[in-house]
Amino acid sequence: MAFKIRDSVTWVGKVDWELRKFHGEEYTTHKGTTYNSYLVRGEKTALIDTVWTPFAREFVANLKKEIDLNEIDYIIANHAEVDHSGALPELMREIPDTPIYCTAAGVKSLKGHFHQNWNFVPVKTGDRLDLGGGKELIFVEAKMLHWPDSMFCYLTGENILFPNDAFGQHYASEYMYNDLVDQDELYREAIKYYANILTPFSKLVTAKINEVVGLNLPVEMICPSHGVIWRKDPLQIVHKYLEWADAYSENQVTVIYDTMWNGTRRAAEAIAAGIKSANDSVNIKLYNAARSDINDIITEVFKSKMIVVGSPTINKRTLHSIAALLDMVAGLQFQQKKGAAFGCYGWSGESVKLIARGLADAGFEVVNDGLKLLWNPDADALAAAVEFGREIGRLV
Ligand code: FEO
Repeated sequence: MAFKIRDSVTWVGKVDWELRKFHGEEYTTHKGTTYNSYLVRGEKTALIDTVWTPFAREFVANLKKEIDLNEIDYIIANHAEVDHSGALPELMREIPDTPIYCTAAGVKSLKGHFHQNWNFVPVKTGDRLDLGGGKELIFVEAKMLHWPDSMFCYLTGENILFPNDAFGQHYASEYMYNDLVDQDELYREAIKYYANILTPFSKLVTAKINEVVGLNLPVEMICPSHGVIWRKDPLQIVHKYLEWADAYSENQVTVIYDTMWNGTRRAAEAIAAGIKSANDSVNIKLYNAARSDINDIITEVFKSKMIVVGSPTINKRTLHSIAALLDMVAGLQFQQKKGAAFGCYGWSGESVKLIARGLADAGFEVVNDGLKLLWNPDADALAAAVEFGREIGRLV
């Protein structure tokens, strides 16, 4: 239910505890999510964003308990993706003439989703909307963070930044404030969100943060569209984003494999042992891609200096979990990471070359020709895998 953030700002969104997949089946949300919508009252009233489509009726019904809908003067659509705009049709049936402020790209996206000629008011960076009572909304376009239409807005008088998806987390909580929740959970979801959604746009993240910082606006609170509100030391997440956007890695190597009859798994473990024997400071993690959550693996890739990817050869290719992983990794455009390939084979043995090519195409520095192991690895083959690991351990 609604709660006041400030006298003039009320959260009117939805906490979705049940959600386990987002973007269709693409992104796992182990901790659910929230769709944050904010009602801002000066002498005029603005509604910032709505909620995902399945909650549209509930959203509008709850909003009516908070305000006579006819008293909403402006709707701000910071982003057209339906997890934020999904309740607009339900709302606009009630207040069809209310102006919707969004970017020019937002007009296209919203029309593309809903095919309605609502009263759109396109805005640009620096445009202001006076709400009266010393409160203004200042708009900042945030193109490709993470859609062409994405936009931030800033509320003067309260010094609140509403950055939509940026600085969000898919994290349901009834606490709704960063200082009240488990910090490990919060940051686990925040980094997963960055790694899986924002990595390709890292250069734009840095530029946009510098642009917003350059406006010299005091920021007392950051109210994203997903997850908790950053009210205690709100700039902590901005500093984290600058760190994550700058070719982030920790002292970690991740070995990711799939296996048919455990040969490639045993090779993975031997490689890990080799890495450890050459470098006992590096954090080594192993994931069977077919048995692990791909978004969690992507988060580990994001944290890694190097990934070592293995698959046996099947039908002259790799197992499909590794093909899917490489495709996802290619799209995310990680920066300054190393990679290597390995795998077992019985006759044709294409998998290692395909993995190495996939890593190179994804922008990884492929450090060697990879390790091909014939049939089920015997003691000599496992010793070769250990040595392969040692070389990697010395490199990172
Ligand atoms: Fe939360 Fe890009 O939608």
